[in-house]
Amino acid sequence: MNPFDLTGRLAVVTGAKRGIGFAVAEALAAAGADIIGVSATLDPASSAIGDRVRELGRDFSGHRVDFADRDQVTDFAEALDGRQVDILVNNAGTIRRAPAAEHPLDWFDEVLEVDLTSAFVLSQILGRRMLQAEYGRIVFTASLLSFQGGINVPGYAAAKSGALGLVRALSNEWAGRGVTVNGIAPGYIATDNTQALRDDPDRARAILERIPAGRWGTAEDIAGAAVYLASDAARYVTGTVLPVDGGWLAR
Ligand SMILES: NC(=O)c1ccc[n+]([C@@H]2O[C@H](COP(=O)([O-])OP(=O)(O)OC[C@H]3O[C@@H](n4cnc5c(N)ncnc54)[C@H](OP(=O)(O)O)[C@@H]3O)[C@@H](O)[C@H]2O)c1
Repeated sequence: MNPFDLTGRLAVVTGAKRGIGFAVAEALAAAGADIIGVSATLDPASSAIGDRVRELGRDFSGHRVDFADRDQVTDFAEALDGRQVDILVNNAGTIRRAPAAEHPLDWFDEVLEVDLTSAFVLSQILGRRMLQAEYGRIVFTASLLSFQGGINVPGYAAAKSGALGLVRALSNEWAGRGVTVNGIAPGYIATDNTQALRDDPDRARAILERIPAGRWGTAEDIAGAAVYLASDAARYVTGTVLPVDGGWLAR
C-alpha cells in the first residue's frame, strides 16, 4: 500500500491553467487522481493542463470561471454536485500591488473575492458532499502573507491571512467528520504572480538574499506538499498550514 496513492480520487484544482495550480494538478494526476481544472481563462476544449493530465492516463475536464463573480463560482460548484469530489485545492489567486494609503478599494474587494470568498464558496458547497461521504481533503494555497504583512499588498495580505483563518475554522468543524482542511504557504515562487518582484532588481535581490535555500522556488516545489496533504499519508494532519518556502519563515 502506497499511502500517497490517489487512484480513484477526483480532485478539483482551481487556477489549474498555469503556475502552481498547473504543477499541483499534474502531480495529483501523476499520483492517480482524475482532475477537474478551473481558471478564469481555461479553454474547456483545449488546454495544456488537460493534455498533460490525459498524457498521465487520467481524466480531465476543464472549466472557465471568473472567481471575481460570485454567481459564476456558485453555479460552477453546484453543477458539480452530481459528482463526488474527494479533493479540493483552493489555489486560484490574484494580487494587486499599490501602497496602502493609495490602494484602490475596488482592488481590495477584487482580491478578497477571488482569493478568499470564492474559496469559501467552493469549500462550503463541495464540503457539504464531502461531509455526506465522510471523506474529503481540502487544501488552500495560502502564503507567507498568511503570517506576514508584505509591502504594497494589503488586500492580498488580508485575503491570505483570512485563508489561514478558514483552514482552522473549517478544520474545527469538519475534521471529526472525515474531512481534513489544510493549507500550503509557498515562499517566493517564480510564476506570473511574482513577475513584478522579479522585474524589480532591488526587490528581487533583497528577497533572494533572505531565502536560506538560496534560490526562488518553482511551482513544482509546491506539488509534493499538495499530494501529501491530499493523501491518506496526511489523514491525521488538519487545521495547519505547511510552509514550503526554502526556509524563509524560519529566518
Ligand atoms: N508565486 C508565489 O510566489 C506565490 C506565493 C504564495 C502564494 N501564492 C498563491 O499561489 C496561488 C497560485 O498562484 P501562482 O503563483 O501560480 O500565480 P499565477 O501563475 O498567476 O496563476 C494564478 C492562477 O489563478 C487563476 N486566477 C486568477 N484570477 C482568477 C479569477 N478571477 N478567476 C479564476 N481564476 C483566476 C489564474 O487563471 P488564468 O490562468 O485563467 O488567468 C491562474 O490559473 C495563488 O493563490 C497565489 O496567491 C503564490
